[in-house]
Amino acid sequence: MTALLVLDHLAKRLAGDSERWLFRAASLSLAPADFVAIMGESGVGKSTLLHIIAGLERPDAGHMTFRDQSLDLLDDDARTLLRRRHMGFVFQAFHLIPQLTVEENIALPWRLNALPRHDMRPRIGTLAERLGISKRLSAWPRELSGGEMQRVAVARAVVHRPALILADEPTGSLDAESAETVLDLLRESGEAEGAAILLVTHSPTAAGRARRRLRFDAQGFHPL
Ligand SMILES: Nc1ncnc2c1ncn2[C@@H]1O[C@H](COP(=O)(O)OP(=O)(O)OP(=O)(O)O)[C@@H](O)[C@H]1O
Ligand SMILES: [Mg+2]
Repeated sequence: MTALLVLDHLAKRLAGDSERWLFRAASLSLAPADFVAIMGESGVGKSTLLHIIAGLERPDAGHMTFRDQSLDLLDDDARTLLRRRHMGFVFQAFHLIPQLTVEENIALPWRLNALPRHDMRPRIGTLAERLGISKRLSAWPRELSGGEMQRVAVARAVVHRPALILADEPTGSLDAESAETVLDLLRESGEAEGAAILLVTHSPTAAGRARRRLRFDAQGFHPL
């Protein structure tokens, strides 16, 4: 099976200090339907690494391929298109769009990819039901609790059935039951749709749901 995503000695310098590295030599190969949990101390660069994979930041060294295509050579527009179509991102700080309702936020990847209109509402309805946010679809993000925002962010990340889901602490604001639901949903996206999942988490319980667990530090990945 060819890898979906390959990270080859990715490195990032510390902001404002070109002499020092935040991390070096981050190497990882992720197959379709793989489910990897990444753990590591606060500030080691886990979120930065996910942003680099998504093309929201650039690495300072190393190479990346996605479906055997080198990401190093793509310009920002091409990275945006690739991210939009093939990746789903649950941001640590949610990043819901305040001017859009919950339903419109979740619909965003669907619309941006111009997926079939008639399938959109049932898909959003199913996800919202599953995540316990059906009654909040017409609400504005500012009216939501932190846990509700997080579940909206999860729905938005998976709605378009991406090949790669980057989930940055997606259960951090949730009670145990909702966290379980989110992890079930991520896992099913892998099992039913072949999505590969990179889950950054401080929760051993959440990490326990992954197929593999890695520790991330300034030297890169280490098996846990
Ligand atoms: N673009 C950037 N380039 C270099 N350093 C950055 C950049 N963005 C953030 N940093 C710094 O890098 C460090 C890692 O930040 P990051 O948010 O990636 O850590 P993290 O592992 O996700 O931490 P947490 O577990 O608290 O979420 C921080 O000290 C931060 O100030
Ligand atoms: Mg982080």
